[in-house]
Amino acid sequence: MRGITLLLALLLLIPPVGAYSVPERGVVYQVMVDRFYDGNESNNGPFYDPTHTNYRLYWGGDIEGLIEKLDYIRSLGVSMIWVSPLNDNINKMAAGSAPYHGYWTRDYKRIEEHFGTWEDFRRLVEEARKRGICIVVDYVPNHSNPATDGEFGALYDNGTFVTDYYRDIKNATVNPYTGLKENIYHHNGNIFAWEGIPLKYSNLFGLADFNQLNPWVDSYLTEGALLFADSGACGFRIDAVKHMELGWLESFYLRLYSRGPLFIYGEYYALSPEKTDDLYELYRYSNVSPLLNIPIREDIIRTLGFVGSLEALSKTLEEYYSHFVYPNKQLNFLDSHDLVRFLNAARRKDAVERFHMALALTMTLPGIPVIYYGDESYLVSRDGKGDPYNRPMMVFDNTTEAARIIRTLAGLRKTNDALAFGDFKTLYANYSVWAFERTFGSHKLLVVMNKGSPVGLTLSIDWPDRRYEDALYGGEMVVSNGRTTLELPHNSFYVFHIEGEQKEPLIGSLTPYAAQPGQKVLIGGAGFGSSGRVLVGGVEARVLSWSPIEILIEVPELKTESAWVDVVVERGGRTSAPAKLRYYSGNDVPALVVVNATNITGQLWIKGDIPELAEPRPMLRSSTGYYFTVAPLPNGTAFSVELYAGSPWGELEPINVTLYGFVNSTVVLLSDEPPKQPVQPGETKSRGQSENWPLYAGMAALLLVLLAVWKRKRG
Ligand code: NOJ
Ligand code: CA
Ligand code: CA
Repeated sequence: MRGITLLLALLLLIPPVGAYSVPERGVVYQVMVDRFYDGNESNNGPFYDPTHTNYRLYWGGDIEGLIEKLDYIRSLGVSMIWVSPLNDNINKMAAGSAPYHGYWTRDYKRIEEHFGTWEDFRRLVEEARKRGICIVVDYVPNHSNPATDGEFGALYDNGTFVTDYYRDIKNATVNPYTGLKENIYHHNGNIFAWEGIPLKYSNLFGLADFNQLNPWVDSYLTEGALLFADSGACGFRIDAVKHMELGWLESFYLRLYSRGPLFIYGEYYALSPEKTDDLYELYRYSNVSPLLNIPIREDIIRTLGFVGSLEALSKTLEEYYSHFVYPNKQLNFLDSHDLVRFLNAARRKDAVERFHMALALTMTLPGIPVIYYGDESYLVSRDGKGDPYNRPMMVFDNTTEAARIIRTLAGLRKTNDALAFGDFKTLYANYSVWAFERTFGSHKLLVVMNKGSPVGLTLSIDWPDRRYEDALYGGEMVVSNGRTTLELPHNSFYVFHIEGEQKEPLIGSLTPYAAQPGQKVLIGGAGFGSSGRVLVGGVEARVLSWSPIEILIEVPELKTESAWVDVVVERGGRTSAPAKLRYYSGNDVPALVVVNATNITGQLWIKGDIPELAEPRPMLRSSTGYYFTVAPLPNGTAFSVELYAGSPWGELEPINVTLYGFVNSTVVLLSDEPPKQPVQPGETKSRGQSENWPLYAGMAALLLVLLAVWKRKRG
């Protein structure tokens, strides 16, 4: 009997397969599979360099090697591993390089033979799970492989050849609304301007650019990703999101979320936090899923690795974070496979000390930290260069000071919710000293650093009078009457913390924060007790599991026209402050939405009467006299939109034109309301019920738009 009780107790401690945990309480470890560890020498060729000197060839790392090193990774205290793309890549060299990095896919349903098999992947997931770690897969739906070299965009569907870039062009046509040439791929040359249409509809560095609105491509890319989700991946890092329509990504993510509360984050490449149109787009994308905090990384490296004011950095970061709905779910990183590593970029004698400070900062700012493989062992690039030299073979050493910092702060993140969910407030900053506080209910954090000469810092701080010990070095802080004086040596970094009992329900995050009815959302927070109710947009949600810090719910169906709805937790007569959920109606299809607007110039936006269109969407102006965008829209639904003019960051001005649409894969917005007809579940209605409706309504829409623009120009 005692044996059975013990077994049951042990089983309760092991999370069940498919159990998700709140990403903000974890740390991501980024691995480039080929450069990590060779667990199977029989899969190393071809294009293999056993000497590890040619950075453009395979070096032998594989999934089996990663499995062998899971205990090492666990020793760093991290809870997620982001693996470089695992899909089958081309079998030829292109541009003088083998696809060792994994970003040149040919088959989205197979695993690259240099890395292993689906069975290896499932074993990786299982072995990682036993160690409390889950696997996030890098997935590349923007492009396949180089269009003009290697295998020329060759594409396979689980081993069956589908097409390549040159065969595809024979069947390509010009879309009358976008003016763009497309079939399976886009055929609009390479990206020549880093904005507008080329950004999304041309080849990124010559890589064959997918036409995600082609129904075959749409299903193929979705099925490929679902294979990973169904094999136990807990999330995805989506490559190059900036080069795809947000509207397609939304519908893609929604389909992936049908498998559970996956953690999906995107790579939106924007190097600066300046308030440009590009940064505005980054925030718009982050309203749908989290992103890597690429824009602030350079400022952190410069300020700590070279020269610069911590006060200026504090202001930049506060401003940057203030525009996110969920700043704590975006991802911070110092090093990556695309950028020069800190230790190579730093121009200082005390670079290693500064690296420790930068690492600790990355792990204490709002956002989920990403540790690039080898950060813990001071791995550096050959000749100090970036891609591909920032991808050397891994050196395993978890006994370093860097490893200790990572382990300590990863440990603290699991127990201190101010790290996971806290706000962000600078208490003091000058050129070389910075103190910021983060609070989440009864959990608090005070981070204090000094990169200059030793100094004493007196702070006013609203913490209970007592002595506190810093998590990293055992530094001391005594608070008395709301004041403290700290002695800060040169290059010091302290993390003080409080973990009080949270009595009232408090929501820290939703995973994912975008979902449709019937999908599971994981609520992270504190003070939830052992039972209660969750309301989503005022409607009670089905509760699937409940613990004091995590609740799993199913999103109910709502009658709303809003993009964001409130989620609250009720427990023992207390109601939490609301958290925001980006709500989708369900049964959404990625639709090309078109406005006929021959004589309008400038930036046009639409905003409509369904949740998917409740936030203004900017439209692109085609060469054929239309404006267009892609939006996920509930299939078979009639809706209306208002038109607006204006630029990102500015006020949008209504143009006072209402247009109507009926959801199909292409929706031309027209000025007549389409006749409403009840839609049977699963049925797709065609746009117009009357044969001539589109034609007359199209002419009327054009007249209305022209009239409105004429009036605006005159008035
Ligand atoms: C961004 C990835 O991080 C980079 O390494 C890759 O080469 C490009 N996207 C293209 O896939
Ligand atoms: Ca190998
Ligand atoms: Ca693209």
